[in-house]
Parts: sequence; structure tokens; C-alpha cells
Amino acid sequence: MSGEAVAIAHPNVALSKYWGKREGPGNFPAVPSLSVTLAGLQTRTRVRWGAPAHRVVLGGRELEPAESARARALLDYVRTSSGAFGHAEVESRNDFPTSSGLASSASGFAALALAAVRAAGLDWDASRVSDLARSASASAARSVFGGYVELPVGAQSARPLAPASQLPLVVLVCVTTEAPKAVGSTDGMRATMERSPYARAWLEEAPKIHAGLREALLAGDFARVGELAERSALAMHASAIAAGVTYWNGATIAALAAVRALRDAGTPAYATIDAGPHVKVLVRPADAARVRDTMKSVAGVSRVLEAHPGEGARLEGKP
Ligand code: DP6
Repeated sequence: MSGEAVAIAHPNVALSKYWGKREGPGNFPAVPSLSVTLAGLQTRTRVRWGAPAHRVVLGGRELEPAESARARALLDYVRTSSGAFGHAEVESRNDFPTSSGLASSASGFAALALAAVRAAGLDWDASRVSDLARSASASAARSVFGGYVELPVGAQSARPLAPASQLPLVVLVCVTTEAPKAVGSTDGMRATMERSPYARAWLEEAPKIHAGLREALLAGDFARVGELAERSALAMHASAIAAGVTYWNGATIAALAAVRALRDAGTPAYATIDAGPHVKVLVRPADAARVRDTMKSVAGVSRVLEAHPGEGARLEGKP
């Protein structure tokens, strides 16, 4: 078997955050999460079966075995399931900074899962592809789907909750460094669960924030979605910081202050932050250009990328 496929996937930003895993085998989140898939940033991944050994090239650089362990485990699973002959050659490229808290693992593993499955000739549905992506990185399960997506606790896969049109918004990604992050999210959440005095508080609070956010989204209430998204991010980071896991830099704090100042001056803008120092600002489309100009002038913000709700993972050239 020497099938080949090219998949495109977008990162997603969690409005209610996944942080912490359930005990036991598999990669299952301890809390529910809700995200929006982000068109405007993308990963493109080509998989070709029939190689003598798995080979993973990311952004033109061949990954060391330790760096590609999750990708190789995913490929081995597909290989066993399909009876594919040989190993896979993977070539992947992001058009945004990799491994810095811009959810490159989400789009990366969603694109890899879809391309690997289709190249092996399997016609698995999106839920099964999402399950495969989740086993590598739980946030990747959500990038398989477009629009607003939920990953419930205990579920094998993510599921679409509402189309992109449910709540028109723009996500302004304020990039505060091009460097990769020091602590990956898997290690960061493990440290939080083991050492943070606030881990339990986070685990209790997260499902409540999630339920409120879900309701606000389905009601089309932008301000409430924004408030709860910011609350989720701050609660997640507070629990992590108390364990010594700090993803923020000075520009993160300056950007947070700028978002608050915008709000005080009457513009509905809300911040969310993943496992990295970048601040993602949620705004209504009509406010995007003005807020973007404000965020560009924040000290330490090197550039501002613009993203909006978009499609799930798909094969290149196919709807
Ligand atoms: C802060 O999905 O990267 O972005 O399952 O261990 O690979 P693993 O973790 P990952 O964690 C994402 C954490 C987050 C919040 C989120 O996306 O929900």
C-alpha cells in the first residue's frame, strides 16, 4: 500500500478550556471544553504510506524520534487498523508559529489523523478521526470539526455544537514571541494537577463555566460568551501559576490590560490565553479593525493575526 493524501486543518481556540486529564489510560480530559475552529491560520500535512520507517518532517526539519513519538504512535495505530504495508512519510507545515501556544498541536494532529487515515484507504467518519486525533492531543479532537465544537468529559471524540454562523466574531491573535514555549501543555497540566493548591478549585469551576458558555453561545450572547471565555482562561492560568507553571510574559500582561481598557471605554473585547504567552482577543467583526490597531501598539506585541470561525479538517481540494 502506498496511498497518499494531503489534509488541511486549522487550530482552534478553547473558549472554555481543557486543562487536566482523567486518571487512567488514554488521553481523556478531566473537564469539558468548547472551542472555535480558526480559519486564517492553517496546517497542511501530506502522508504517504510505503516508507521503510516513519519519517516526520515539520516545517522542513526532520523531527527527532523523541519529538515525533505521538505522531508515530498515531501512525502505528492507523497502520495496524488498515493493514497498511510499510511506514509513513509525513510532511507538515504551519503558516503560523509552531509550539508556542498557538495550538499547532491541535491543527497538526487533526491534519495528520485525517491524512493518515485517508492515505491508508480507511473511510472512517469524522468522529472516528476525532477520536484518533484526541489520543495524540485532546485539543486536536476539536479541530476535526468546524465552527463551535465541544469535547465532553469521557467522550471518545469531539462533536460539532453550532455552525460558524451561530456567533460571528473575530479572534485577534496578539503574538508576543516567536520562540517555542518552555513547558508543553501535557507537562503543564500534569504539574498543575500534582502541585497546584488550586487544582481542585479549577476542576470544580471549569464545568460550571463551560455550561454557562454553552448556553450563552446557543443564545447568541456575544458579551456573555466573552466574559466566560476570559474567566475560563484566567482560572486555568491561576491554577497553573500556583504550581509554578507560568506561560505569560510582560507583553501578555500588557495585552490583558489593553483589553480591559478597551472594555472600560465601551468596546466589547475579551481575552483568552492558551498554554503560551499570546493573547487572543475576541471581538465583534465590526470592532475588529479598530481593536487590531490598538493591540498592535501594545508594547511587546510583535504582530496581530486575524482569524475567524472556519471549517474543520478536510482533504486538500475537497469540500
Ligand atoms: C490550554 O490538547 O495540547 O490549549 O492532550 O496533552 O496534548 P494534550 O494537551 P493539549 O492541551 C490544550 C490546552 C489548552 C486548552 C484547550 O485547548 O482546551
